[in-house]
Amino acid sequence: MDSIVVKGGGTLSGQIPIAGAKNACLTLMPATLLSEEPLTLTNAPRLSDIRTMTELLRSLGAEVTSMQDGQVQAMSCHGQINTRAEYDIVRKMRASNLVLGPLLAREGHAEVSLPGGCAIGARPMDIHTDGLALMGADIDLRDGYLHAKASGGSLKGAVIDFPFASVGATENIMMAATLAKGTTVINNAAREPEIVDLAKCLRAMGAQIDGDGTSRIEIQGVDRLHGATHRVVTDRIELGTYMLAPAMCGGEVELLGGRIDLVAAFCEKLDAAGVDVTETETGLKVARRNGEIKAVNVTTEPFPGFPTDLQAQMMALLCTAEGTSVLEEKIFENRFMHAPELIRMGADIEVHGGTATVTGVNKLKGAPVMATDLRASVSLILAGMAAEGETKVSRVYHLDRGYEHVVAKLRGVGANIERIKE
Ligand code: UD1
Repeated sequence: MDSIVVKGGGTLSGQIPIAGAKNACLTLMPATLLSEEPLTLTNAPRLSDIRTMTELLRSLGAEVTSMQDGQVQAMSCHGQINTRAEYDIVRKMRASNLVLGPLLAREGHAEVSLPGGCAIGARPMDIHTDGLALMGADIDLRDGYLHAKASGGSLKGAVIDFPFASVGATENIMMAATLAKGTTVINNAAREPEIVDLAKCLRAMGAQIDGDGTSRIEIQGVDRLHGATHRVVTDRIELGTYMLAPAMCGGEVELLGGRIDLVAAFCEKLDAAGVDVTETETGLKVARRNGEIKAVNVTTEPFPGFPTDLQAQMMALLCTAEGTSVLEEKIFENRFMHAPELIRMGADIEVHGGTATVTGVNKLKGAPVMATDLRASVSLILAGMAAEGETKVSRVYHLDRGYEHVVAKLRGVGANIERIKE
């Protein structure tokens, strides 16, 4: 199993190109199931999660061709397809559940394995299934699979009030509604940029969608969708992660393709912590204002609030801030697994339920640490880059799910980092 070894200390300078968004790509790919014609995605990130989605779509009968080193995914889903998403693939990645809405819309039935829990929490699917039920689907759980069937053979439009602005449920219902009979309204819909990107792609395929990016999305069902080519939006989580590198190590780094509107709440916190973010013609430039990082309080929220997917990385920054910061995790119940690892590096963190109190220390110290999930693993790399001495991060397969070429990108701005095989 590979590890990543980081030697801390140096400041950073240069540019880091930001890839297309993993979470957008994982919902755009299943959209191919909605049409018999080809869907091509450009600016796709090169990640193991994308390969898992490719494997899943192929198992359902889609043709998926990866080109330009994985940055272009050409998909086609004509003819007969299989409607069963097997546990063996779904268990690897929760986002596999995003085939449920498209399969149900296309074929009138689907059998999708429940993904099971994951390290950061239970993550049920009730918001997805309650919404689809309102659209006329009968759904029951047998043998670990959701068996969904549209009564009368096709889904019908409905008014759906989400109890929580779930990202995945908004995506599943939106895709299902594009081919349903009549109009679907999602109230309390998620507003994430990945939802807007999905709506943009679906519109390019002929769907009628309004209100994406707001809490009320309206979808008028159409008879069929056609082919399209769509460029995947920039990955705001990869962007935010690398913005923290110069904030923690010093120096100045430009994030190519970065946009403030994707990370506005995060930029506000960086500003309060003493980090300058400036827009350039090609992206965003980040540098510390005067050297010291100041403590800030952070609460994770659905977009446009502070993203839960940047909480672990922000905690790494605050470990050496002046003063005490309070981080509240409001999206997932078990998302502080990076805290004990950061404590092994000398951080002063106390966790009580969904609240972590971080009191800044002068310096972190390198240590062997273990990646526990995708965002936790990158927070340990950032911490290692700012620490004294050597940090070895093991279980880096988590990292391969969401960060392409992480070693090359960080070496490119001067980090002392390498991947080793053991
Ligand atoms: C997506 C992102 C993930 C991010 C999360 C929150 C993808 C592939 N993943 O995950 O990186 O951390 O949004 O921004 O896009 N919930 C329920 N019932 C449901 C659905 C969700 O209780 O039916 C709960 C979940 O357990 C969780 C919260 O709602 O506590 C947020 O989940 P959701 O917004 O659905 O996240 P995902 O779409 O799974």
